[in-house]
Amino acid sequence: PASAVSGPAGDLLVGGVSLAGLAGQYGTPLYVLDETEVRTRARAWLRAVPGAEVVYAAKAFLSRAVADWVREEGLGLDVCSAGELELAMSRGFPAARIVMHGNAKSPEDLRAALRHGVGRIVIDSDCEIARLAAHVPGPDPQRVMVRVLPGIEAGAHHKIRTGTEGQKFGLSLTSGDAEDAVARVLGQPRLELVGLHCHLGSQIASTEPYARAAHRMVGFLARIRERHGVTLPELDLGGGFAVPYLPGDPAPAPAAFGRRIRDELARACAEFDFPEPRLTLEPGRSVIAPAGVALYRVLSVKRSGREVFVAVDGGMSDNPRPSLYGARYTARMVGRSSAAPMRTATVVGRHCEAGDVLAESVELPEDIRPGDLLAVPASGAYHLSMASGYNLVGRPPLVAVAGGQERLLLRRETFEDCMRREVTP
Ligand code: LLP
Repeated sequence: PASAVSGPAGDLLVGGVSLAGLAGQYGTPLYVLDETEVRTRARAWLRAVPGAEVVYAAKAFLSRAVADWVREEGLGLDVCSAGELELAMSRGFPAARIVMHGNAKSPEDLRAALRHGVGRIVIDSDCEIARLAAHVPGPDPQRVMVRVLPGIEAGAHHKIRTGTEGQKFGLSLTSGDAEDAVARVLGQPRLELVGLHCHLGSQIASTEPYARAAHRMVGFLARIRERHGVTLPELDLGGGFAVPYLPGDPAPAPAAFGRRIRDELARACAEFDFPEPRLTLEPGRSVIAPAGVALYRVLSVKRSGREVFVAVDGGMSDNPRPSLYGARYTARMVGRSSAAPMRTATVVGRHCEAGDVLAESVELPEDIRPGDLLAVPASGAYHLSMASGYNLVGRPPLVAVAGGQERLLLRRETFEDCMRREVTP
């Protein structure tokens, strides 16, 4: 996090709180979230796109406190399950500022979205249209968008590319599926089509795909006006904005993404003589990833061939990203200063598989030993939200820090928690 400063004896302070102190108090593995950084980044997005709606993608990480922070800062929320929606509603999140996503929304998801009256439901398949229309409760139609597959390649890894043809999300622009869906939604009086949505992928480190998407989507809006006589007032270009994981990783600031998108939107609207739609963006990772730090305790140090393996007390159950997406991380020792020379090591987890690697080619002091602490930055997004029960190690706790104060947001998952769902035979 931006607030990280060196403390005495190799310690690191985040939000004015000692990481070594937190590890001592709460144990490890431990996740630390800098509240100020989340709020600052949320505000940066609002400033980047004045007049637009910014909805935080809850899938990156959601807890009650995070829902409160983004609501207080004026963001909306992108949810993709009844669970995420219910958590938000339990904190009094205004339903009008919630967008519901999902390529295969369950009956529970749809029921919850309709019952709470979320601001937008994003339609992702033909099957959904009639199902949704049949269940709209009140006298007012439900506001919906159609998710378009714009045919644009972007994103860090094939598993997180969602703008290209031939995958499960969205309705294809080139095949005509998107236009068919638009026509069908327009024919449903219980649904009010307010606009179009697309989402290109995740960890996108260039502004260009967004410019291309803006242009293509405005072109489609103009075609809808021509063929169906309706001027849709909204355009949601999704999330996917990259953050740096390693020093020097390219990652444009929110302001740069915002500027490029606004410029291209204005240009495309002039070209197609189309009134500028209300813009929505859905950053998840970009709001929260840099605010998180994962803390681990070293359990063993082993030389194997030419490799040095530093094994810690967490791993792929709290951070599945390296094994799922080949994601790269760095790590540094905290809580002890060492004058030893640095050497290259691989930081691995404690799980029973060889792919359980947290960070490769990390420079760590030669004298690193069991009991030392390692901090992994940029751990705020898609770690705890994707944490699993693998090997029954229990999911780590989460502590929020701000202004020199800490607050426990999630306690550690205990063995009893893990056993709670077991039905005694
Ligand atoms: N909007 C929609 C419709 C999405 O599907 C997503 C992410 C977002 C917004 C937010 O994307 P972000 O700004 O966070 O990149 N688990 C993967 C990332 C999966 C992203 C899924 N959808 C990872 O750890 O890299």
